[in-house]
Amino acid sequence: MLKKISALVLAGVTAVALTSCGKGESGAAAPGGGKTIMGFSQVGAESGWRTANTKSVQEAAKAAGIELKFSDAQQKQENQIKAIRSYIQQKVDVIAFSPVVESGWDTVLKEAKNANIPVILTDRAVDSTDKTLYKTFLGSDFVEEGRKAGKWLTEESKSEAGPVNIVELQGTTGSAPANDRKAGFAEVIGSDPKFKVVASQTGDFTRAKGKEVMEAFLKSTPDIDVLYAHNDDMALGAIEAIEGAGKVPGKDIKIISVDAVKDGMQALADGKISYIVECSPLLGPQLMDLTKKVLAKEEVPARVVTEETTFTQEQAKKVLASRQY
Ligand code: AHR
Repeated sequence: MLKKISALVLAGVTAVALTSCGKGESGAAAPGGGKTIMGFSQVGAESGWRTANTKSVQEAAKAAGIELKFSDAQQKQENQIKAIRSYIQQKVDVIAFSPVVESGWDTVLKEAKNANIPVILTDRAVDSTDKTLYKTFLGSDFVEEGRKAGKWLTEESKSEAGPVNIVELQGTTGSAPANDRKAGFAEVIGSDPKFKVVASQTGDFTRAKGKEVMEAFLKSTPDIDVLYAHNDDMALGAIEAIEGAGKVPGKDIKIISVDAVKDGMQALADGKISYIVECSPLLGPQLMDLTKKVLAKEEVPARVVTEETTFTQEQAKKVLASRQY
């Protein structure tokens, strides 16, 4: 009799546990019941954008009832590969990651596929030709961001005869945003020979490197009209270098950058940066929605492009106070 009662109680507890984690409830159910576990490999903490992105992913996972196993790769691909392998070993329900560089992922992605663990790319792309290695890619159109930067410059320099000497601070070598922002910008300015990229080097998306490389540009390149920085942090570092060289950022050297994080927007409102192309880091909620759909075996689009805008100095002054990050 006692055995029967215990069995009934156990069955009741199991049923409650299953329903309380059921789909549509606050906790996201894993395919076998229980809480969904996501292994998330982040690029690092190289920029204000990245910090905002990490916060967005962590908060959205919590709100969606998804348990997040988070690792910071410190901008090293080998750390990301290690983290993904460890998530496979731990049999997480889903792996999401923002690849530090585009190439070299096929082997580890095949390992995840063979272990039946779906992978979602977030923020940055991989160059794998086998598109079955991941379920979807959520993030910005970096080529378009580069085009927007180029369009502003061509419009701004309409009345100038040229040459317009440009220096470029590239993001991390081999990363999707560095490759694509460079390509989009070059595509637009390439239509007019007065635009000359006189120096172009990586600043690894960090403030310190942006400053260091800009100092070198200022020494080696006498006549710089424009700086195109692939992110705000490098632009902010470059501003320090420009001021250190006794020049006025925004006046002596026009600055275009990408991201629109709060510090960048402040520099834009202050007239030190000339124009910013937005790249939104707030990908967390969409990532969790896609995760739930993927695990429920629902159709998801192969590509989800983030909505973003651009900011002039006047626009920055208006929105600065309400900027979240
Ligand atoms: O991948 C997005 C880019 O990475 C951001 O523009 C940059 O700030 C970050 O480090």
